[in-house]
Amino acid sequence: MNFGTIGAGTIAQAVSRHLVTAGHRVTLSNSRGPSTLDDVVSGLGPLATAGTVAQAAQADVVFLAVTWPHIPAALADLPPWNDRILVDTTNQFARLDPPEVADLGDQTGSEWVASLAPGARVIKAFNTLHARYIEPDPRHPVGRQVLFYAGDDAPAKATFRDLFDDIGFAPVDVGALRDGGRLMQVGGGPLSALHALRQDS
Ligand SMILES: NC(=O)c1ccc[n+]([C@@H]2O[C@H](COP(=O)([O-])OP(=O)(O)OC[C@H]3O[C@@H](n4cnc5c(N)ncnc54)[C@H](OP(=O)(O)O)[C@@H]3O)[C@@H](O)[C@H]2O)c1
Repeated sequence: MNFGTIGAGTIAQAVSRHLVTAGHRVTLSNSRGPSTLDDVVSGLGPLATAGTVAQAAQADVVFLAVTWPHIPAALADLPPWNDRILVDTTNQFARLDPPEVADLGDQTGSEWVASLAPGARVIKAFNTLHARYIEPDPRHPVGRQVLFYAGDDAPAKATFRDLFDDIGFAPVDVGALRDGGRLMQVGGGPLSALHALRQDS
């Protein structure tokens, strides 16, 4: 299985570091083109490469890690998703300073993302954790970092769970994109910014 990131900032790099440490290949991308990512990929080691957004989006599992206003451009004009997995790490901050949460009415953020990536099997994950809880080894002396995830496709969720369980997180399935995604999202979701450890013994 290979991996791609759309966005190459804090979250894309944190997730990519876990993936390459586990021996996986990752293609990172941003809006400015692969040549702007030389330092980022050399910092991640030989399993990381830079690509265009379209190249990164062709991976088996793709992480969407751009800020909210950039999502439509980031997902525009991509090759067909053909059931590949898209992990939505985003939070729906229409603006950061001062913070303003985008109002999507009844729709959750990841349902909106899914509507922009037809044919992708979308999983929402990582958005509940601040980067400083994603970056370190998730295996802490007193337990594993809990990683909430939501999605509508059971096999895609199993792939995601097994991958990040192997990396050392404690994945916790919170349901479908609609109900689970709502629990996880900024603007009132009770799991948003909930940093928990799972005791294994
Ligand atoms: N930071 C956190 O603690 C944290 C935690 C959980 C979730 N999140 C969420 O994760 C997402 C990413 O956050 P971040 O902190 O990683 O942001 P970031 O460091 O600002 O990185 C955003 C990346 O997106 C790229 N980008 C912008 N427009 C793009 C486009 N059209 N196509 C492809 N790439 C594009 C940017 O590069 P260029 O401008 O060079 O294209 C940059 O590499 C956000 O939605 C955020 O709410 C953040």
